[in-house]
Amino acid sequence: MAETPKRITVPAIRAMKGEKRIGMITAYDYPSAKVADAAGSDIILVGDSLGMVVLGYADTLSVTVDDMLHHTRAVARGAARAIVVGDMPYLSYHVSVEESVRNAGRFIQTGAQAVKVEGGKASRIRAIEAILDAEIPVMGHIGLTPQSVNALGGFKLQGKNLDDARRLVDEALALDQAGCFSIVLECVPSELAAMITERVSIPTIGIGAGPSCDGQVLVFHDLLGIYDGHQARFVRRYANIADDMRLAIEHYLNDVRNGSFPDDQKESFHAASADDLRALYGEGVVIEMPKAQ
Ligand code: KIV
Repeated sequence: MAETPKRITVPAIRAMKGEKRIGMITAYDYPSAKVADAAGSDIILVGDSLGMVVLGYADTLSVTVDDMLHHTRAVARGAARAIVVGDMPYLSYHVSVEESVRNAGRFIQTGAQAVKVEGGKASRIRAIEAILDAEIPVMGHIGLTPQSVNALGGFKLQGKNLDDARRLVDEALALDQAGCFSIVLECVPSELAAMITERVSIPTIGIGAGPSCDGQVLVFHDLLGIYDGHQARFVRRYANIADDMRLAIEHYLNDVRNGSFPDDQKESFHAASADDLRALYGEGVVIEMPKAQ
């Protein structure tokens, strides 16, 4: 029997800063987590991006804690080596510190090893500190934070002007100071990401933040070409799995329609008493099936 790999730890991720680039990917179910884990991902994020790439919403705002826990449970069963990070959805850490801790705890009880929280302003830092105080590792996320899409006016590059860049550097430092074990930097200029990466003591994980980050993350469905919605410029598509899936399904439907699936020998079962059945009902007699209610 294959040995279960040892799981990477939160301190091990912190220790990778400046030593080894961190490879992170999202996953939303058991088979995708198994594949991402077997490929050697260090971190698997159950991202609330599942609202868009799996559930078909236009943004992530409709995703609930229950949606997230359902998917986190499946991913946790599929990932043996990678750290599983549960993405706290919109409103799960915005109402009160107590609610934030309770919601974060539900992710851990579901099988995640850490949670991710968007934003770095003072109210977020208070929630993050309380979650950390409950012994739950937190990954920060600043820059383009999709849960703020309405406030930001769209999915746009952040940190373009000096004031905005300064605010993001301050937020990164605050997340580091609060005790986060890593920070996602989404859709910010490379120069700013490099500056933040140099100034914080924890790994930065970029998505649309250039090559200087300590690690990179991509959405599973973007990387594999499964999602056909808007594709951001920072996505590199490594496959076109949706085309392969469509072709395979077309092939199957064709086989059904031309009668070549299922094969009577390879893909069917035969009664030991086939002759008795024929004797009872006669050749070519159609056996009436009860009608579905
Ligand atoms: O929800 C998500 O998938 C994310 C990543 C893009 C970082 O937050």
